[in-house]
Amino acid sequence: MYVCLCNALKCRQFKDAAKAGARDVPSAFKACGAKPRCGQCFEEAARTMANAMQADTMAVAAE
Ligand code: FES
Repeated sequence: MYVCLCNALKCRQFKDAAKAGARDVPSAFKACGAKPRCGQCFEEAARTMANAMQADTMAVAAE
């Protein structure tokens, strides 16, 4: 599913950026080689990244 229509960035790309160490939306854009434009996706991007980080934390805790 696309999160950022301006840059054609998908949910997976924001999740991967979060797992690779991006801790905020601008960092995720940078990791994807893109620049934020309209800003309409920021809330969904942040939510997607938070979910990915939470899933990562839970996976580590379960180990
Ligand atoms: S939809 Fe992401 S910057 Fe416009």
